[in-house]
Amino acid sequence: MARRVVWIDSEPGSCKVEVEGIELEVPRNLTVKKALSMAGVSVGLAPGEGDVSAPCRTGGCYSCLVEMDGEPVRACITPVRDGASIRLYRENQPLLRIVHGPEPHMVGGKGTPWWVKGRRYVEVAIWAAGCNLRCPQCQNYHVTYDNASRPITPREAAVSLTAARIAYGVNRMAISGGEPTVNRRWLIEFFRELRRLNRDDKARLHLDSNGTLLTKDYIDELVEAGVTDIGVEPKGARVETFMKITGIRNRPLAQRYLETAWRALDYLISEYSDRVFVGVGIPYNRAFMMEEELWEIGERIASISRDVQVVVLDYFPTFRNRRLRRPSFEEMLRVKRILGDAGLRTVIVQTSIGHIGPNDELL
Ligand code: FES
Repeated sequence: MARRVVWIDSEPGSCKVEVEGIELEVPRNLTVKKALSMAGVSVGLAPGEGDVSAPCRTGGCYSCLVEMDGEPVRACITPVRDGASIRLYRENQPLLRIVHGPEPHMVGGKGTPWWVKGRRYVEVAIWAAGCNLRCPQCQNYHVTYDNASRPITPREAAVSLTAARIAYGVNRMAISGGEPTVNRRWLIEFFRELRRLNRDDKARLHLDSNGTLLTKDYIDELVEAGVTDIGVEPKGARVETFMKITGIRNRPLAQRYLETAWRALDYLISEYSDRVFVGVGIPYNRAFMMEEELWEIGERIASISRDVQVVVLDYFPTFRNRRLRRPSFEEMLRVKRILGDAGLRTVIVQTSIGHIGPNDELL
């Protein structure tokens, strides 16, 4: 590649780096990601987009690994070093991810069938750091924004989850987050390893996702890798609601994420309902949506399937949104009625006293 020099900043606070044969003078403490962009390397938001994909941009997902002076570094949070040489990985990017757990669970997630919930441990789960959304009320922020724990390989994660399955005597193994789908190669390899270690018919491999990155080919690859249960969560019917809930301020991007999640649900039901248990999550708080929109969401899901399992999560105050008021028990029962009236037959609501099942029983 021809070498050229791009003068970005000639102040004393600048340093020189070389990116894929292109020399740059850049401000000190600039991230590697920014230096890549300045060198004309495209940095994408979704898996497979751009020369480098950087979906979380907070250091948790390890999708954006590049080589700086021969060492793997996360482009999104690592500052450039004076004189550094930066290379892209082509085929052999290390597969790493920060993961919390495993831990046993009594209720599981939106993709856990309601009839197994709550009687004893039903599932063991791990939680992957990094997310493409920025929900101010992130219900799992201590995992989502962890960029300091030791990352592990797909094999290590699969081995520890399998060991937890044996220890707790369950058949269901789940990954949630953060958002597991942001690092596609890591996730696919994780499920392949998990399936290799759990070949029996009883083993259920569960992905709990927001669905915003689940394109058709991604879903095909996940099912091929052995996934048996998938939960997706379109966060609203309207893009304004999606933006409020997720903190995504770029409207076209929010629209794309929202539509991808709805299309993922449609595709899962139409193509895989005989092989994959599908669950839908709806986050509810009146600060985000009125009953009218809840009805719209119910109707849209019912137009895809009246019987699909729908789990409504009562968003409570946490993280950067401590002013939220948790919906009351009675309010959640009303939400359940609205969705039932919109045509849905399998609605579960999370409340302050536990999950209420389709037959109005406490699970
Ligand atoms: S985008 Fe850099 S770690 Fe996720």
